[in-house]
Amino acid sequence: MPNAATISKRISKPHLEVQGNYALSGELKVSGAKNSALVLMAASLLTEEKLLLENVPQLTDIEGMSEILLTMGVNLRQEKDELHIQAADLHHVELPYELVHGLRASFFCIGPLLARLGRAKIPLPGGCEIGARPVLEHIKGLKALGAYINVEHGVVTASVPGTQKRLKGTDVVLDCPSVGATETILMAAVLAEGQSSIENAAQEPEIQDLAKLLNCMGANISGAGGPKITIKGVKQLHGCNYTVMPDRIEAGTFLIAAAITRSKLNVAPVIPEHLNAVLQKLRDCGCDLQINEDGIEITPGEIEGVDITTQPFPGFPTDLQAPFMALMATAKGTSVITEKIYENRMKHVPELQRMGASIRLQGNTAVIEGVPQLSAAPVSGGDLRSTAAMVLASLSAQGVSKVEGLTHLDRGYAALEEKLNQAGARILRY
Ligand code: EPZ
Repeated sequence: MPNAATISKRISKPHLEVQGNYALSGELKVSGAKNSALVLMAASLLTEEKLLLENVPQLTDIEGMSEILLTMGVNLRQEKDELHIQAADLHHVELPYELVHGLRASFFCIGPLLARLGRAKIPLPGGCEIGARPVLEHIKGLKALGAYINVEHGVVTASVPGTQKRLKGTDVVLDCPSVGATETILMAAVLAEGQSSIENAAQEPEIQDLAKLLNCMGANISGAGGPKITIKGVKQLHGCNYTVMPDRIEAGTFLIAAAITRSKLNVAPVIPEHLNAVLQKLRDCGCDLQINEDGIEITPGEIEGVDITTQPFPGFPTDLQAPFMALMATAKGTSVITEKIYENRMKHVPELQRMGASIRLQGNTAVIEGVPQLSAAPVSGGDLRSTAAMVLASLSAQGVSKVEGLTHLDRGYAALEEKLNQAGARILRY
């Protein structure tokens, strides 16, 4: 029979206690981009020389990726936001399922391992809270480059035939502009024999960051950031020092934090062209944005409902759909938000409804009628970005909210409550 102790233990999951309805002020500092740093860490496998990555965010996903590289024999140490990596003698090219399932980016090691060693054995990452997340485009691209790929028992076993064990350059056309598939094929092609191209490539800024790092290591890539990337294979790559770009999704989350609390804030550093679709929607819904030397100053006016449909870059990013919906829940009038990238990324809707939001969900389309004020409640996030959305909603709600889902949150936001409290929020972590 459960007793009071076991019941209270079950109830007291790690959570944030957020006192809502306080304006913020000053500046919110943006860390390095998680979704760039993770793939740049995978790219370190392409050379035996030293790589120094700077502006690496301190996140549990980065720790997870470090663990994975260490199991392969990579020499790695993190000093604050600097990551020293050297894949001099890779010895273990089979990754454990538990590590890969928990961190999809680890699957992106398959391209560099094939290019460097000619073999790799990586579990299929499997689905996650937001969708099935297949990797067929990754596998199709690697096969086109000449790799033998066998998928059974949930494991992808890949090898490069021939004495040279060198992939052969070729032209690949993606069925969908997959970020991960573009990155996997790019990293496999840089050491292939001859020229390759990727058409219908993902155009996200993280692809440009990866191409810049690879070119800094001696690769020959052009067109990254556009729909067609061309790669001239080279024999080997060397080490280099590289600074990770600022996290556009964290920056967008902070801009929405300013808008939802109706606070004038500076968010920095930001590369505005990484967020044009989001900046446009913030202006459309009533925010004034001033772009300064390294950031953006946002001054919210009366927030009105606007419609959003998530798209591949340069469209509105799926990773800011949940945070933006929290804002729309407090806007004047109606907004329609449609999720087109993932099949199951509306987990924040019932949680926002618990806070008094008026939302009707039909499949992956939400119709939101803004309310004057949300009311604080105990809520939880089902994935990284929906948990961030619940923190934003709590900042504007009347009363004290309890937000669970910190294991999700800490994957993608470094010291979120410290940053928000330094700008005037009142958040405690338990
Ligand atoms: C990256 O995931 C990001 N993760 C995601 O961020 C982000 O949401 C996504 O890109 C889209 O921008 C990292 O970079 C580590 P995709 P990725 O391959 O590469 C379908 C976050 O919150 N697809 O572009 O896995 C897939 O099912 C995370 O930081 C195929 O159909 O994204 C999805 O519906 C969440 N076949 C869509 O494409 C494939 O072979 C986008 O996936 C590959 C993908």
